[in-house]
Amino acid sequence: MPTGESFYITTPIYYPSDVPHIGHGYTTVAVDALARWHRQAGDDTWMLTGTDEHGQKMMRAAAANGSTPQEWVDKLVSQEWFPLLETLDVANDDFIRTTQPRHEDRVKQFVQAIYDRGYIYAGEFEALYCVGCEEFKTESEIVDGAGAFEGLKVCAIHSKPLELLQEKNYFFKLSEFQDQLLALYRRVPDFIRPESARNEVVSFVKNGLKDLSISRSTFDWGITVPWDESHVIYVWVDALLNYATAVGYGSDPEEFARRWPAYHVVGKDILRFHAVIWPAMLLAAGVEVPRGVFAHGWLLVGGEKMSKSKLTGIAPSEITDVFGSDAYRFYFLSAIAFGQDGSFSWEDLAARYQAELANGFGNLASRTTAMIERYFEGIVPPAAEYTEADLRIQQIVADASTSADAAIERFRIDEAIDAIWTIVDALNGYITENEPWALAKDDAQRGRLGTVLYTAAEGLRALAVLLSPVMPVATEKLWVALGAADALGRLQDQPLREAGTWGILRPGSSVNALAPLFPRVEQSA
Ligand code: MSP
Repeated sequence: MPTGESFYITTPIYYPSDVPHIGHGYTTVAVDALARWHRQAGDDTWMLTGTDEHGQKMMRAAAANGSTPQEWVDKLVSQEWFPLLETLDVANDDFIRTTQPRHEDRVKQFVQAIYDRGYIYAGEFEALYCVGCEEFKTESEIVDGAGAFEGLKVCAIHSKPLELLQEKNYFFKLSEFQDQLLALYRRVPDFIRPESARNEVVSFVKNGLKDLSISRSTFDWGITVPWDESHVIYVWVDALLNYATAVGYGSDPEEFARRWPAYHVVGKDILRFHAVIWPAMLLAAGVEVPRGVFAHGWLLVGGEKMSKSKLTGIAPSEITDVFGSDAYRFYFLSAIAFGQDGSFSWEDLAARYQAELANGFGNLASRTTAMIERYFEGIVPPAAEYTEADLRIQQIVADASTSADAAIERFRIDEAIDAIWTIVDALNGYITENEPWALAKDDAQRGRLGTVLYTAAEGLRALAVLLSPVMPVATEKLWVALGAADALGRLQDQPLREAGTWGILRPGSSVNALAPLFPRVEQSA
């Protein structure tokens, strides 16, 4: 995209009733890496995350813990969900909680607006509801229970019994939007990505849409329906609206015009809410639809979707305490094709940490800075004449930078990292082939030694810039060690789309030998 445009990106807002696990962390670091990339590229970037605090699930969890819902969510958000952002080095611009007045007031305004436009009516309703999903279930989503739930109908996702609900509800005329939605998917072919997700949604919508129950009257933990105080707004309608209320819908038209529309990154489990219901709600209100929805896959543990309720949940800090936040970010963002499921295992994480981070990138950084210190008293030498091998490195850096930016445009963070890693591999090979330690023994080769070490250091400069959205901690250390912070300013201010330009690191900068960026880890497991 042309530099400077608005780039507003969101994570789903998480249910704080559970403690965060690595699946939540995965979505969050993916969005953070995309936001950091665009921010550093000079785009007008805004990253939003937050918590989804209403609904029956939350009310019951609070009651089970002897708290009021508000006390319960306040505690979880401050003790678990805010700290997660620090654990994972997330640089979000805002954090929305659906119990904040800034959200509640504007949700009422939005729902009133679509009511006034004739898209809401009152009706009777009877259906099976899954509190885990906070969703009414259709036949294909219901299976027979097993074990303790033998003989009962259970939710295909949660394997827990469904509840029969019968009440007067307000309905949103979702069925009226089938043609408009199909036209949207045709007009904007990448509205839903990846392709497999798009196909699934298109065939779902082609099968016809039912009106959606958007209010509940049997409990009160929610935002009241503005024209009928005996109802609260369905938790998903409330939650989806966070993306608009957080950037000024209904209160700050200037801010809203600047940020909206957004890109939404979500797990594939909640794709339909984002790609069907949400754009239909916006169409009903006469508000622009999102720019796009990207559905990523599930983290699988032992072949199953990892989840707290199935006891396969792993807390992000279990990983960061051992390997650090950069390794967490790098591992999940590089090892899994963004958009597909991926299996997590400690063995795979440890192997990639060692091979790619410690031996690949970390070792390249340590040995280059150590050689500059040893052979040039810590001063970046100038390059003399470039040979073909040097020019090849320059070309690889330029190509990697262009390909990585193109991959980020497609939301393929994994492909961007692959492209950037061609620099790591090429430079490690280049050092082995050029043997600076041998050149150092021959005074006549002093100029050549300088060229080789300048090439390695300048390649590292490009790597620091290109990898900073993924690994902000290690790249910052590298930036300082290269002497670039003094000569070129802050790492996060380096224009990302120009990272591949050769010759930015200045000869004469002072380099410090670097302690290992990815030290050996002792694993007890
Ligand atoms: N509150 C709703 C979202 C409302 S958005 C308007 C919700 N919350 S959630 O906490 O249950 O999960 C949110 C997201 O967490 C999922 O969409 C997905 O992005 C992420 N993940 C939860 N479990 C996951 C895996 N096992 N693997 C990958 N991501 C997972 O749904």
